[in-house]
This record gives sequence, C-alpha cells and structure tokens, in this order.
Amino acid sequence: MRVTVIGAGYVGLTSTLALAHVGHDVVCVETEPSRLVKLKRREDPLGEPGLGALLSVERVSFVVRDSHLKEAEVIIVAVGTPALPNGHPDTSQIDDAARSISSHASAGAAVLVRSTVPVGTCDRLQAGSLRRQFVISNPEFLREGRAVQDTFAPDRIVAGGPEAARPTVVALYSGILDRRNAPSGIVSAPAEVPFLWMTARSAELTKYAANAFLATKLSFANEIANLAALAGADAHAVLGAVGLDPRIGRGHLSPSLGWGGGCLPKDTRALQALAAEHSYDFRVLSAAIEQNEHQITAFAHAIAGEAGAGGRIGLLGLTFKAGTVDTRESPALGLARRLVALRLSVVAYDPMLSEPPSGAPEMTLCADAFSACTDADVVAVATEWPVFSTLDLVRLRGVMRGDALFDGRGVIDRDRAESAGFRYWGVGLAPTPGMPVPVGLGAAESRG
Ligand code: UDX
Repeated sequence: MRVTVIGAGYVGLTSTLALAHVGHDVVCVETEPSRLVKLKRREDPLGEPGLGALLSVERVSFVVRDSHLKEAEVIIVAVGTPALPNGHPDTSQIDDAARSISSHASAGAAVLVRSTVPVGTCDRLQAGSLRRQFVISNPEFLREGRAVQDTFAPDRIVAGGPEAARPTVVALYSGILDRRNAPSGIVSAPAEVPFLWMTARSAELTKYAANAFLATKLSFANEIANLAALAGADAHAVLGAVGLDPRIGRGHLSPSLGWGGGCLPKDTRALQALAAEHSYDFRVLSAAIEQNEHQITAFAHAIAGEAGAGGRIGLLGLTFKAGTVDTRESPALGLARRLVALRLSVVAYDPMLSEPPSGAPEMTLCADAFSACTDADVVAVATEWPVFSTLDLVRLRGVMRGDALFDGRGVIDRDRAESAGFRYWGVGLAPTPGMPVPVGLGAAESRG
C-alpha cells in the first residue's frame, strides 16, 4: 500500500519504519528542519533501541512535504498535541495536517489519526474538512525506550471510524499482526494481536483511559509505598506480591518519587479537562494527579530536611525514566525545581545528557556521578539508570560532605549503601535506623 505518515516523532517514525518493514511503500513528512536533516542522513533522532538499525535498512523517503499525497491510500497523522494551559490538548497541528490532506489527498483515502486527540476530534474532521476521506481514530500505546518493540509487538490494535474503511485498516496492519515479519530482537508476547474495532470516539477515549489508569496505578503504588515506609513494611515485596494477581498485573507497580513523561501528565490533564467539559467530577483521576504532585514535593522536602539551609544536592538522573533521552515533565526536573525553590543548590548528572535540558531550573550538569556529588550534603537518585546500581558507593561517599542517600527509584542496594557509610532512604522502605522519617512523608502533614 502507498502510505504517507505525517510527523516523525515516537509514534510517526516507528509506524513509518514498521510499515515499510512489512512491505508498504511509505513516505514520512517531517517539517522540523534539524530532525529532517538527521533522518535524511539515517541518524536516529530519538535514541530508541532498534530504531537506528531499521533506519539504515528500510526504503523510506523523508520529506518536508509529500508532493504525491494524491497517491496515498492511507495517511497516518502522528503530529504533536501538546497541552494548553487549560489542560486541553492543542490540536492546531492536527488541523494543519487535515487542511493539507483535504487539499491534496484523494477522495476515499483512509486517514488514521494516531496522535492522542480529544474525544470527538475524528468525528469533527469527518464532518468537516475531511468529508471526502475516511477518518479513523487509531491510537498508539507504545512506551518510550521500547518504541520499536511495542510497535512490532503491540498488546492490541485499536481503531474506530466508518465501517467502509475497516478492511483498509486490517490490510495495513496484517503484516505487523503476522509475527513472522518482526525484525530479530523483537520479543513477541501474545501469539495473536487482538484487533479491536469500535467507534472513533471510543477509540479516542481508550487512549486516555489507558494512560489515566496507568497513572492511577502508579499513584496508588506510591501511596502504598509511603505507608509501608511508615509501618515498617517493604513496599517492593508487598507490590511484587500484589501484582501477581492477574486482575491487577505486575506492570507499573514500582514505587518512585513520582511519574512523568510526554504522555501520562498531559493525558491525565486532558481527561480531567474532558470530564470538566461534561460537568463530570472524575474524583479518582483528580486524586491520582494530586498524589503525584504531593509525591514529588514530599521527596523534595525530605531531602531539604536532611541537607539543611543552603545545602548542596547531588542529583543522579534527569530523564523522566531510564532508556530515553526525554525530559518532558520529568519527575527529576520537578524535584530539581522544588529543591531550587527551597534554596538548595543542585548539581546533576545524567548518562544521556551533556547539557541541562531546556526549561530546567538553575543547576550545574556534570560529566559523571562523582563530580556531581563532590561536596554534596545529600545524594538523590531520580532516574533508574542501571549504571547507578553499580556505582562505587565507597568512592561516592568519600567525595561527599554529607552521608544521606535518597533513592527515589529503588536502584541502589540498601545494604551496599549502608556498608559504604551512607544513611539510606528509599521510596517504600523504612529509613536506616536513626534516620528520621523524611520530612513531608510523615503521616499527618498537609498535601501540596
Ligand atoms: C506511557 C504509556 O505507558 C504508553 O502506553 C503510552 O503510549 C504513552 O505513555 P511512557 O510515557 O513511555 O508511556 O512512560 P511509562 O513507561 O508509562 O512511564 C511513565 C512514568 O511512570 C515514568 O516517569 C516512569 O518512570 C514511571 N513509572 C513507571 C514508575 O514510577 N513506576 C513504574 O512501575 C513504571
């Protein structure tokens, strides 16, 4: 099939390469000049495992404008929908893409909206500028750091729109549904991928519901973790056992200083905005969002309590999780912002970053963990990079002024930390005996 993909972000680029891999003729449109230059040189702009290898072999063209859009049987819209200040997604890039499709695409082409869009967007486009095409909502559920894996081995394919377009969508994905086509290194979990066809509105809401549920699960796990630390239990043991119930599931139960990224914060706020639009009070969702803010704030206060006025914090990790270069709405940056507001100085290290990300609060970025922690009063781990688990802790303790280690990701072994002379506190664990329960994570303090 002749396919045009508009947007070369995580969703657009992996869709482009996966569809090309299974034999479609794919053109990918990217308007951001520096990203387009990289793609033309076949350089991976996202640092995703497996992406560079696909880029080097797949026959795909990257263009700033598809001058043959008329020939496309399928057009995939994978542009950004960043949050507006009121929580609603900004759909201006979707509307730009729709205008271009309406002017240049053939009647009867299938337009698959893979961007996360407000419920009702596809119906609006179908009734408006794209009335000559078939508009289908086709949300994507990939995780950063596993974008290629999740694109070739999705848990499910969700799509919704006019019935007449259904065979086109099935034909588009049939190559991916056949696991024999996956490149080597892809772990295929279910033998058969469920293909779920529904209305466009249901498909749009499915994406928000999935991300909101994950966020709620994370906030719940963090509440259990905080309570476990107070009650003298080990949250990792508790949540590991709880997750073995298939009704609950093992994923997204690792307690942490908070959740973030390019999707969960934005999509939970968008769902909240949708609820407000319908005068619906989505209490559980509001609590999950509030709990996350509180989690990061409490972690910052706990660190500040140990560091003392004007103290220096060695911050390990800035990306929103390991395995990605992305720092959008990173809990690590949220923590740094709060620490700076509490008049502490932050010296950071992240294995993937060589300069502080845009929007970061005032901080110094070092080239290694030991430099970041030199003369630090407290070391705080904010991203679960595996290299942190094998750090030479005796050396780390030796370069520091203080002896408190706050592990916001459960990556540092407590016994190893204590043997190296640290007082250790990790999310979900009681602190080293003699270390006070961190300020802010005590039972009765106010939220915020
Ligand atoms: C998420 C969804 O998982 C994915 O299905 C959707 O398509 C896009 O949004 P992603 O943004 O890559 O994917 O992040 P995810 O892996 O879900 O992690 C979100 C946040 O939760 C990160 O800050 C991560 O560190 C944190 N997290 C995750 C935990 O704190 N504990 C966990 O057990 C899992």
